[in-house]
Amino acid sequence: MELKRMNGRSALRRTAEQLWIRDGAALRHAFRLVMEATRRRNALDHIITMALGEDGIEDLFLGKKNFLRIYASEAIYGDSTYQELVEMEDLAREILGRREFGPVEEALVLIPRLEIGWEELPRDEATALRTFHPAWYVKYCVELFGEEEAIRLLEAPVPPSYVRLNALKGEDEGLLGRLRGEGVELEETGLAHVYRVLDQASPLTLLEIHRMGLFTVQDKASALAGLIAAPAPGMTVLDVCAAPGIKTGHLSEMMGGEGRIFSMDFSERRLESWKSEMERLGVGNATPVLGDAKRRGAFPDVEADLVLVDPPCTGTGTFGRAPSGKWRITKRSIGRMAGIQERILDKCANHVAAGGAIVYSTCSVTVEENEWVVENFLGAHPEFSMVEASPRLGLPGLLGQDGAQRLYPHLHGCNGFYVARLERE
Ligand SMILES: C[S@@+](CC[C@H](N)C(=O)[O-])C[C@H]1O[C@@H](n2cnc3c(N)ncnc32)[C@H](O)[C@@H]1O
Repeated sequence: MELKRMNGRSALRRTAEQLWIRDGAALRHAFRLVMEATRRRNALDHIITMALGEDGIEDLFLGKKNFLRIYASEAIYGDSTYQELVEMEDLAREILGRREFGPVEEALVLIPRLEIGWEELPRDEATALRTFHPAWYVKYCVELFGEEEAIRLLEAPVPPSYVRLNALKGEDEGLLGRLRGEGVELEETGLAHVYRVLDQASPLTLLEIHRMGLFTVQDKASALAGLIAAPAPGMTVLDVCAAPGIKTGHLSEMMGGEGRIFSMDFSERRLESWKSEMERLGVGNATPVLGDAKRRGAFPDVEADLVLVDPPCTGTGTFGRAPSGKWRITKRSIGRMAGIQERILDKCANHVAAGGAIVYSTCSVTVEENEWVVENFLGAHPEFSMVEASPRLGLPGLLGQDGAQRLYPHLHGCNGFYVARLERE
């Protein structure tokens, strides 16, 4: 994750392939250890630095540093027994070598005993360590949402999983039966075809019925964007920033497979995943388009009834599920992303037919990547106006954007998200 700047899931998949690890239970255990340590990285580093003294954690070699994080995470916050911690130490000695390990032996004894000196810390710093977020982000949230709401957001638990049943493969009733037959317990969400996962016997994406395309694992907020877009059968749809195709699949379903979808992305590798996904889901009316949506000339020559824009973002709304993002992005990433999003959205205006619409969404809760981008767009394109994004599940947008929707992990039990519908005269 640190070397290749990958998220936890992709990094673990790559590692499992490289080391030929096939044991599902071992992989799940490894994933949990890594994610828990990643979620709390700042507090763990703080304690490890206290234990190491002057030299601190930053100068340590990557393997040793991350062993210490996992060890500290289990010793301080986890439910490992003393015996399990000793076994973990022995394994680390074996893997890293005794010479490498020697200088940190003392720290291992200290780590479970140390406590953060909360009273000595400035307020934002203490909140950052208590809620496991970077101090700059705590400050950002407090300024945007007020202290009380910001802390609720920062303390939100990891949201539950959701699945969206694939209407191209059958009726809900039958598909639900197949999922229940595999030990997946589901609950309705009020959104068409979208169910909350209450329990599961094994990882959802490893099930044969997943490979057969009967369902997609998709966050409730992301599914909401598709429902707000709601293209009718026969329409022409431009799906901008489309890979790996979770929303393309949803659009195609709503169109009953009739009409045309042009799915554009600038990553060849991600478009390959998009192709596999379309095959899995049985989507036959979508065409991949390789191109940079910041560039006018890269767009296919179409006037669409609907343009769905799902640009890259800082992912602040997904910190619960993908905690490595917390430590990867900086305050400057927000402005940088907003610049890219603005350029992409601007180029889409030319490809909307009269009476057509753009649906813009991100899984970030910052105002710069959402309301500011949309406000600038509406300023530059007076032929567009914001309309009520329906069905309504979230709160209104900030800056008086009542038609837009904002969703938050602590309020809506899903990723933090923004979505707006902009219609052309
Ligand atoms: C949030 S993801 C899209 C998720 C997708 N809509 C889905 O539902 O599966 C953002 C995507 O934008 C693509 N992207 C980033 N910058 C781009 C650009 N300038 N032009 C086209 N695609 C871009 C990335 O490769 C990535 O696949």
